[in-house]
Amino acid sequence: MKTSITGKRILIAGGGFIGAHMSMKLKKMGNFVRIADIKRNPYVKEDYYSEAYFKDLRLIKNCISVTKDIDYVFNFAANMGGIGFITSAAANIMFDNSMINLNMLNASVKNNVQRFFFSSSACVYPEEKQLKTRLVPLKETDAIPAHPDTSYGWEKLYAEYLCKAFKEYFGLDIRIARYHNIYGSFVAYFGGREKAPAALCYKISQVMNGDTINVWGDGKQTRSFCYIDDCIEGTIRLMNSNYTEPLNIGSDRRITIDKMVNIIENIAGKKLIKSHDMSRPQGVRGRNADLTVTKKVLNWKPKISLENGLALTYFWIDNQTKQGF
Ligand SMILES: NC(=O)c1ccc[n+]([C@@H]2O[C@H](COP(=O)([O-])OP(=O)(O)OC[C@H]3O[C@@H](n4cnc5c(N)ncnc54)[C@H](O)[C@@H]3O)[C@@H](O)[C@H]2O)c1
Repeated sequence: MKTSITGKRILIAGGGFIGAHMSMKLKKMGNFVRIADIKRNPYVKEDYYSEAYFKDLRLIKNCISVTKDIDYVFNFAANMGGIGFITSAAANIMFDNSMINLNMLNASVKNNVQRFFFSSSACVYPEEKQLKTRLVPLKETDAIPAHPDTSYGWEKLYAEYLCKAFKEYFGLDIRIARYHNIYGSFVAYFGGREKAPAALCYKISQVMNGDTINVWGDGKQTRSFCYIDDCIEGTIRLMNSNYTEPLNIGSDRRITIDKMVNIIENIAGKKLIKSHDMSRPQGVRGRNADLTVTKKVLNWKPKISLENGLALTYFWIDNQTKQGF
């Protein structure tokens, strides 16, 4: 399995958290990397792209201009955030992301893009399979019959089918990853769009030993978390593979939110009191990835432990806040 991409002209649509890491990696591998985003990534200071277009990708004219002379498109652009955001902005999420995906696919066909990557999500899986903390890990075929628990999940599932239709009718060569809770540096950690790992790292960095921190839900809900470097490696392998069905990229280590808090407390050297806030959304009761197909197709599994990944994330966030960000 090829683990690098070189000598291509690449568009990263959405230079946010995952997009910025992917851009950095592909530029280092010797590619020309164009970033297209509605705004600058506020967290990355390094030189991480060859050129950048700051444009609204809901508009077809902008999608056409950014896909010109491009070999590979990685579409990470989306109006998204953690559970707090996705349960409070359904119409915006569905409208914005549908427009971005429709127009990015259409423009990629018009500009003869060779290969198109779409970033789907574990949120496509049916609610019924995620009612228990000790759930059966979710495998790719579980997505149908469909019943995602959020509008964001429905929109991702629709976009997967859109990709499939563009492959069948226009011959666009597509790859689709279903990401499961990716975390690491350059991610939102406050302001409303943050996800659990970064939100908890930030909260813990802001309190003193012995203080109380607020944890959404009863803390017994389970998830699996994948460090960004593993996600990037898996995604590059998928892009190099011949596999065109949606594929899980994540970790299969299930953990409760309370246990994740304990890990971050150890990293921070603090012992805290958890205050469980049942008024805040906690999403499905349990979620975990079945990586059987992924391991076979990509010869890949995550290498970075949750303890090491959270330490890297915690100290990045701690350092950011000490610098006043
Ligand atoms: N991070 C995860 O755990 C995770 C899990 C599942 C799926 N995903 C998917 O992966 C992709 C990347 O996620 P991320 O965590 O890097 O998110 P992110 O929010 O950091 O990045 C998304 C980027 O899209 C940009 N964007 C939003 N609207 C736009 C518009 N109209 N025009 C141009 N750019 C626009 C944002 O400015 C942002 O930089 C998304 O599609 C997301 O749904 C992420």
